This record gives sequence, C-alpha cells and structure tokens, in this order.
Amino acid sequence: MERRNVVAATDNATKDRLVPGEGIRALFPFFSEGPGGCYLDSAATTQKPAVVLDSLRHVLVHANANVHRGAYRLSALASELYDDARQKVARMIGAPSECTIVFVRGATDAINLVARGAEHLFSPGDTILLSLLEHHSNIVPWQMLAKRRGLHIAFTDITDDGRLNMDDFRQKLAALKPKLVAVTQLANSLGTVTPIEEVVALAHKAGAQVLVDGAQGVAHLGVDVQRLGCDYYVFSGHKMYGPTGIGVLYGRPERLEKLEPVQGGGDMISYVSTDGSGWAEVPQRFEAGTPAFPEAIALGTAVDFLSSFDRKSLIAHERELVHAACEMLRGETGVTLHGPASAGGEQVAVVSFSIDTVHPHDFATIADTHNVQVRAGNHCAMPTLRRLGVQATVRLSFGAYSCAKDLGAVRDAIREARKLFSR
Ligand code: ALA
Repeated sequence: MERRNVVAATDNATKDRLVPGEGIRALFPFFSEGPGGCYLDSAATTQKPAVVLDSLRHVLVHANANVHRGAYRLSALASELYDDARQKVARMIGAPSECTIVFVRGATDAINLVARGAEHLFSPGDTILLSLLEHHSNIVPWQMLAKRRGLHIAFTDITDDGRLNMDDFRQKLAALKPKLVAVTQLANSLGTVTPIEEVVALAHKAGAQVLVDGAQGVAHLGVDVQRLGCDYYVFSGHKMYGPTGIGVLYGRPERLEKLEPVQGGGDMISYVSTDGSGWAEVPQRFEAGTPAFPEAIALGTAVDFLSSFDRKSLIAHERELVHAACEMLRGETGVTLHGPASAGGEQVAVVSFSIDTVHPHDFATIADTHNVQVRAGNHCAMPTLRRLGVQATVRLSFGAYSCAKDLGAVRDAIREARKLFSR
C-alpha cells in the first residue's frame, strides 16, 4: 500500500459535521455487527467507530515497524504517523506544542507518572489537596506518594448534591497552602462539572500547581489547556472513542522538564554508558520502550472523529439526554437521583440513581436482560458515595451514539425490577 494511502486511512479529518444520536450508530460496528443494544456505560469505556478500528488495522498491516529506530522507510512511516497523532492530540486540547504531549497507557498511568516523577519536588509535611469527587485513580497515587514522602492529603468537601464546595476549597487553600491541587473536570460517578477555571485560578493564586483529571471531561466537555492554565491534564483514549492502552499526559513545558523519568529503557535516553545514562528530550524521556504506536495513531483518528462533531451540539445532545433521563427517573416510584440534578443543577453525560427496594447490582443484572448495559456500584469513587451516604448507585452514562430510546428501556427495567423485588 502506498504511503499516502496509509496516511489517509489513519486520517479521518472531514469537513462534514456528524450529528450525534441514533443516526451515527451506523458508524459503529458494535451496533451493526456486535451486540448493540442500549449501551449506557460510556463513562467506563466508549464504543469504537469503524474509522478507529480501521486505523488500528491499517497501521498493523501496512506500517508495522518500530518507531524512532529503523533507517528503513516502513519505520519512518510508522514514526511519522505516531508523530502526527501527537500533533492531533496537541491541537485538540489547545497545547502549545506536541512536545507537551506524553503518550502513556491512560489517565491512571499519567497520574502515577506525575506522582512518581515529581516525588523529589515535595518535602515532608507538604500538602496535596484533592476533592471528594475524585476517581480512585486521582486519589491512590497521591496517597502512595504521601506515604513515601511524609506528605499530608486533604480533601475539598462536596455539597449534599455532589457539587464542589468552593467555600471549603478556598478555606483549605488558605489554611493548608497545598503544593498541588488535583481535581476532576467532570466527575465519573455523578456527572458533576467542576468550576475548573476557578479552581485553577484560585489554586495558582495560592501558589499550588494543578493537575486536572480530564478522563471524562475531554470527550464530554472539551478543553483548551492553555486557556485553562492548568499544569497537567490527563486522559485516556478509550473513553473518547479511541483504543485502550493509550492515553495522554499533557504538562506545561516547565513542569515536564522538572519531572524525573520513572521508567528507564530504550528510546528515553540520549546516551548510555557503563557509568550512567543521559535522558532524551521531553516527551521521549517519559516513553521508555516500544510505545503503543498503533494505538496512539488510532487515538489520533479518534481525535479526528471527535472533531467531526460540532462540539457545542455534542455537549448539548449529552445534556439533553441527562435532562430527559432525570425527567424519566423523577416520574418513577421509588427512584432517588444523586448528584447536582437531584437539586435541579447541571450534570453532563452521567446520571446516578438508586431504587428503594432494588440493589444497584440486581438492577444492572435485570437491565442486562433488557439489553441495557449500566454500571452499578461505587464507580471507583468510594469517598464520593460515602459522603453522600450511599454505598452504591446505578449509573447511566452517555456517548455521542446514545439516544432517548435507550431511556425507555431503562424505565421498563426499573418497573420490572421493582415488581420483582416487592414480592
Ligand atoms: N473510570 C471508569 C468508570 O467510571 C472505569 O466507569
């Protein structure tokens, strides 16, 4: 296959705008060839459009050679496609240059990289300020760091309806003077949108660096990291229509320069001698070993796919679904909503609820018999749920292909579950 055809196969840039909703299911083999159904677990992982699957296959078939190593054309092609993907990611999030984009395995990997790589920048007694809205991946790596370095971990409280308590945030910033603030842009458990611009501005004013967890936000809200001004932004490919095993750490250049590499090996060095080694430039410094280049290139295709939507209408579509889901759930006996929507507030892409007589896990099993896939449990956010006084919830989470029809199936499953469990 010719070089330009391989490049074209991984490049899905188009001027035709995609319209979110049922109509785009035709672009997803999951719906046309796979199990299909009412897939309402996109916060856990999204389904993949054919262009992303094709991109992955094309690379493995037509450009499969190790990157940044070979002197032959196939390796140069793979390297070129890999570098293109980095540029696409940089453009999508408004990064100043592709050198600020580190390819990692996912958001969890990115946070662990920062927590390990910045270890030497913390002193015993320093504080890291998180929030009670965080996914475990934005808590546990910091707790591990705290244990290694003798740091304090504090949490900004949330309101009873699951919003960030900004008074508490301000107070903790002033009282604890944290060195780092790590906060989600969009909570995976409740769909809460945090006032992230204000969080970053206040934290910077108080002298703290800020890591933003964009695992949900990147696909459902979008970001311009330069406008936001955060120090780090992290996300996973598989939650934004890309493959698993690939994700991104964005860091301001001066931040990445100060991080220590946490994995040593090939491709991250400038030289190796028997006396020691020198590091390659950023971002290669953080990408030891053979990278997941087919997945990174397919992530670039997912970036193209996501860019094919008018972002405002995609966000509006997912907001409307949240609104419709909450309306439907409010009309059902025995259902309690959790999160800002329970008090009339805003949520994006996610709705969490419980049913009086039905355990969330039982509901998920019953819903599955209606071919409705939902997540049940603590959603890797145990501190959030504990603060709200619940152990588990049912979570509906939407993607570009979700539609109102899915909600009718959820309502039927709720009615059946309540009937079964009231006997
Ligand atoms: N973080 C993923 C979720 O929210 C797994 O379901």
